[in-house]
Amino acid sequence: MIPIAKPYLTKKEAKAAYDTILTGWITQGPRVAEFEQKFAAYTGAKYAVAVSNCTTALHLAMIVAGVGPDDEVICPSLSYIATANAIKYTGAKPVFAEINPANYNLDAADVEKRINAKTKAILLVHQIGMPADIDRFKELASKHNLKLIEDAACAAGSSYKEAKIGSHSELVCFSFHPRKVISTGDGGMITTNNEDYYNRLRLLRQHGMSVNDRTRHESSKVIFEDHLEVGYNYRLTDIQAAVGIQQLEKLDWIIAKRKKIAKRYHKAFKNIGCLQLPVEKKGYFSNYQSYSIYLKDNCPVSRNELMQKMLDAGISTRRGIMTSHRETAYKKEYEGLSLPVSEKASDQSIILPLYIPMKEEDIQKVIDTFTSLLK
Ligand SMILES: Cc1ncc(COP(=O)(O)O)c(C=O)c1O
Repeated sequence: MIPIAKPYLTKKEAKAAYDTILTGWITQGPRVAEFEQKFAAYTGAKYAVAVSNCTTALHLAMIVAGVGPDDEVICPSLSYIATANAIKYTGAKPVFAEINPANYNLDAADVEKRINAKTKAILLVHQIGMPADIDRFKELASKHNLKLIEDAACAAGSSYKEAKIGSHSELVCFSFHPRKVISTGDGGMITTNNEDYYNRLRLLRQHGMSVNDRTRHESSKVIFEDHLEVGYNYRLTDIQAAVGIQQLEKLDWIIAKRKKIAKRYHKAFKNIGCLQLPVEKKGYFSNYQSYSIYLKDNCPVSRNELMQKMLDAGISTRRGIMTSHRETAYKKEYEGLSLPVSEKASDQSIILPLYIPMKEEDIQKVIDTFTSLLK
């Protein structure tokens, strides 16, 4: 069976985890601090704060941006449900906007239509690693006095206008789940250039504690901590951070390899008329976290049939990105909401296997099987 994805982990990651375990410091400590410093340097952001996953990153980003009950936050419905859930955790309401089918990212004109007096923020997703037009959304946020938060769960290593995602705005959240291009098992990071946000994020991820464990441990004087506000346990462990440091060193190399496979798919499918392939416009550099293809209406086979036939041939695929407003958790509250572009993108897209190292014969098998099923 050809899987849909696989994390690229080597003996180096295993050794880093092993060595960390033997130091005796296994949760948030020196390796987390090192991972943060290296991730900030990689993205070009001033600060980075490591947390347990991207959902908790988004939750904390919402809090420091001042999002709370009675506020509205505009986000795409076409995203993993964690995007909407992070807004919900604060008591605010996710307001779902349409996407541009060319890149699966928010449609700025549709977002603007949904802004009202309750709108507090825009949560911009770089879907499956394809950067959204950040400048356009920065303009929109500043015009309407809104906060802009980036959900870059899938976009580690992607760039927008020659700068890495993570460096463009005040709150950018990343995931290191195994489906992402680099992984720490689970894990997340928030990058920011805002010192006040940085300090508050560090407090909130560890129960609002005024002095962290490492500072107390290293102090020659007895210090007592205070808990300055109600915080959370959203810590990343040092074992995960040690793995993350190794993964980060490989990130650009991993992306280069992924892009080669994406190029192979592109070349093989570009003349099949019923397909709309991903497009990287100038200034938009995708890490190809996923390779998603949109099946136009003239496709001779339905998306679900295609997925089944691929599976029968030993190839795993996934449906297109979900729409949150049609999931049971949100369906009742959003009854009557129609987002035809998002719904169609979700129902008519298929994600093909993409991971490294992917054997040449497996790449060819995906290409041949997919092509023959579309004839
Ligand atoms: C767009 C998006 N946001 C948020 C998340 C949540 O990330 P995590 O699993 O690290 O909490 C995901 C995960 O798939 C995602 O794709």
